Amino acid sequence: MALRSANLNVMVNAAQKAARGLLRDFGELEHLQVSRKGPSDFVSAADLRAEQILRQELKRARPGFSFLMEESGAETGSDPSRRWIVDPLDGTTNFLHGIPNFAISIGLEEAGEITAAVVYAPVLNEMYTAEKGGGAFLNDRRLRVAARTELSDALFATGIPFQGRPGHLTFLNRLARVMARTSGVRRFGAASLDLAAVAAGRFDGFWEEGLQPWDCAAGILLVKEAGGYVSTVEGAGNPVHSGSVLAANPALHPQLVQLIALEPAVAPAEAAPAEAAPGEAPPAS
Ligand code: IPD
Ligand code: CA
Ligand code: CA
Repeated sequence: MALRSANLNVMVNAAQKAARGLLRDFGELEHLQVSRKGPSDFVSAADLRAEQILRQELKRARPGFSFLMEESGAETGSDPSRRWIVDPLDGTTNFLHGIPNFAISIGLEEAGEITAAVVYAPVLNEMYTAEKGGGAFLNDRRLRVAARTELSDALFATGIPFQGRPGHLTFLNRLARVMARTSGVRRFGAASLDLAAVAAGRFDGFWEEGLQPWDCAAGILLVKEAGGYVSTVEGAGNPVHSGSVLAANPALHPQLVQLIALEPAVAPAEAAPAEAAPGEAPPAS
């Protein structure tokens, strides 16, 4: 059983309280009429309610701490050196589509460093916690990153840039290289949980660009405290604030950085058109 600091207890309690509302709203979603606007407005409201609960709970317990929250932005408290970095609902698109892979993510940053982390997936009832120097845990079970050392055995997670995000072709080129050399690549839709799964040794690594601090601050500490390495996709720099994150176990981290850095052999747009296999529709031209 993990010995939790007072701050970590505050974070766990706040996450549990906000999760009750998210679970209720997630259950409600099933009964909502699926109109084009209706569900997304409902989910935005659920998101905001969760953030309000987290803000209230964290503020009540630590009145002076500052905030960086996805919905309400930055707020400097009387103690600017300590701040909560909060995503009240990571995996919004999953939530909207009735997919239970979503989480509340809370990181505590002290003097510019992430020192405590909570990632809580309410439907799965998976509570991930970590403290700097104190290890990472899943529901009180100590976590270690996976021990696999060969790319060919490794399973990676990533985030695919979507409408409104840049870097689609760069992503496709990187994906082409990674998928050709590894056991597979998954896109589960909640960066905090992707990182938590690296900490738990389920995934061997993860990379994504264009993240915000609230998507990754807590997850990065989880991976580090489970014995993994975290950097930017280029292999250097501060992943929390650059939004470029690459995490893996110590053996696979340099291999993934190298694989991603390779120049594209053939850009997907220039690739020769594939021929239809028997029984398949011919490729669109
Ligand atoms: C998103 C998720 C997703 C990642 C996006 C994030 P949200 O956060 O973490 O996995 O690919 O970049 O914006 O919007 O669901 O809180
Ligand atoms: Ca997020
Ligand atoms: Ca969010």
